[in-house]
Amino acid sequence: MTITARTRVAIVGAGPAGLLLSHLLADAGIDSIVLDRRSRDEIESTIRAGILEQETVRVLSETGASDRVLADGSRHDGIELRFEGEGHRIDFPSLTGRSVWLYPQHEALKDLIAARLAARQDLRFETTVTGVGDIETDRPWVTATAADGADLRIEAEFVVGADGSRSVVRPAVTGSSGGYFREYPFAWFGILCDAPPSSHELIYSNSPAGFALISQRSPTIQRMYFQCDPGADPNALSEGEIWEALQARVPGTALATGPIVQRDVLRFRSFVAHELRRGRAVLVGDAAHTVPPTGAKGMNLAVADVVLLDRALRALLLESDHRLIDTFAETASTRIWKAQHFSWWMTSMLHTAADASAFDRRRQLGELRSVVESEAGRTFLAEAYTGWPHEA
Ligand code: PHB
Repeated sequence: MTITARTRVAIVGAGPAGLLLSHLLADAGIDSIVLDRRSRDEIESTIRAGILEQETVRVLSETGASDRVLADGSRHDGIELRFEGEGHRIDFPSLTGRSVWLYPQHEALKDLIAARLAARQDLRFETTVTGVGDIETDRPWVTATAADGADLRIEAEFVVGADGSRSVVRPAVTGSSGGYFREYPFAWFGILCDAPPSSHELIYSNSPAGFALISQRSPTIQRMYFQCDPGADPNALSEGEIWEALQARVPGTALATGPIVQRDVLRFRSFVAHELRRGRAVLVGDAAHTVPPTGAKGMNLAVADVVLLDRALRALLLESDHRLIDTFAETASTRIWKAQHFSWWMTSMLHTAADASAFDRRRQLGELRSVVESEAGRTFLAEAYTGWPHEA
């Protein structure tokens, strides 16, 4: 037996994009059902990146989606680029008038889930989408298998694929055309450790041994990454070997060490779906695009997509005005490709490729120097890192 439910917007994916969209739509009186294949616990405990642009923080706090981001997040007014053993600070407020916040994504997800459940959002975990159809009509639908094994059919007026890089909604939108895609010959070995901070701001370090990023989580927990092979096994290194690899990549700072409580290998890719919308279905967040983590753009791009889509859906569903949904893909693409460029640029400028020649290495140092020694160069980096203003 199939249980049929009706809603205005069927949202696939309870990550930052899907949850924030349901939150913004509810504010306009537009009801939605949010489905996710994962359990609440899995969503709330998966470690992801942590840098939020000022505009992302503003949206999360002003709309009540997260009341902790300002209280518990920490404002960062700059980052350091380190190369040839020397640090060069990029000061965000003086260059752009903006800052960023360090607030782990899973904390933002806890806030969003709590806010949505308090508002009686229909939010279904452990529910696997099995089909999406009729998206070129006014009555698209999603079918799914619920946590208890029941078959569901959700009839909606719009379907949103916010279901991450392995999106099941994506094929319905892009057909067989897929997307623009690039792989990188390196990955990040990430750790969480019990230690005091080694630096009060993030350090992006280029060294002959490879790239490292020194990030933070709290006064007692730190997040750090070092460049590794995409095929690396996170369990193959001892704690001593991990600290040695990290320390070799951050010359000039003596890292404060401590027990490593989590380790993972993050593979890099750049991806943009060829189509972001077909009829009454759109893709947002990682379902639409993936960036390597070096530019810290992932969640910020998802939030910018959703702010744009919320406006377009309000116009469409409350006023039958198609104009914003008709231009959604084109408008979103402008920011997406700027972020793709920035993420690719930071990645290629900071990592060392195994096959880099002596020329490539010196050219890279020349590029880093051109950025840090020029106010225009620092401003370019700071504008992109702190985030371009949301579309008016
Ligand atoms: C993190 O803290 O996990 C983090 C920060 C900045 C990045 C990527 C990851 O660019």
